[in-house]
Amino acid sequence: RISYVNGRYQRHAEAMVHMEDRGYQFADGVYEVCEVARGHIMDMTRHLDRLDRSLGELQIDWPVERNVLRLIMREVVRRNRVRDGLVYLQVTRGVAPRDHVFPSTAIRPALVVTAKRSDPAAARRKAETGISVITVPENRWDRVDIKTVGLLPNVLARQQAKDAGAQEAWFVDGDGMVKEGAATNAWIVTKDGRLVTRPADFGILRGITRATVFDVAKKLGYEIEERPFSVEEAKKARESFITAATTVVMPVVMIDGDTVANGHPGSITLSLRAAFFDVAE
Ligand code: PDD
Repeated sequence: RISYVNGRYQRHAEAMVHMEDRGYQFADGVYEVCEVARGHIMDMTRHLDRLDRSLGELQIDWPVERNVLRLIMREVVRRNRVRDGLVYLQVTRGVAPRDHVFPSTAIRPALVVTAKRSDPAAARRKAETGISVITVPENRWDRVDIKTVGLLPNVLARQQAKDAGAQEAWFVDGDGMVKEGAATNAWIVTKDGRLVTRPADFGILRGITRATVFDVAKKLGYEIEERPFSVEEAKKARESFITAATTVVMPVVMIDGDTVANGHPGSITLSLRAAFFDVAE
């Protein structure tokens, strides 16, 4: 396995960054996860646009030019012979003696890019049965619209889900409304077949897969309501699903131990999943 670290392609086992990298000490950095399907990196432009926004919000410079990053991502995919899988990229503010304020002298942001294969057959099987989610109170900061590597609440929520025999945890706000998953966006389908997902202006991450599902829904003729929905509404919904680069469209069949509809993946969810790769770029 080969990874890219600050200008060099290295054996993954030997790919390292300095211990005083601010990503390590302060989670002072941002990341993207892109899906690779049939050797092609999906939705790259949208991912790089979101990266640009995340970097801008944290006043971190681009480590390399945008087109160079595209080349590096493709090269890491090629060198690892990934046909179906993921590309991970991370930009941290760089190496400086530990001090909360930004370094006063300009430092070079650190860039790492890795790629790994996934098993499309295993994902297909998972989509045939669907997944279970639990709900947990929102305990993250207000700026979860920035895709930072500061993910401790997400890590703890996912672990809590696993310990409960579930695969994802949904953060719920003080009004009982679902925000998003630990690493996915949350959706329901109403009885009359409309897709509902929370607005992504603030308070959740604006998922790239979420955006592509908007395109897919349009193509298939489904209407989308961008509004918050409650845990209660989700439990009574016709269907439910999550979206992320790692799962694409994945049916949710159980919420806090209660089945959604008949406990099987919904047909609209599965049609979105099936059409996804025809629409995504
Ligand atoms: N997670 N919400 C959160 C909190 C996320 O971490 C993610 C992605 C999403 C979905 O975004 P997208 O469709 O762009 O993948 C929503 C990535 C995959 C991760 O941390 O592994």
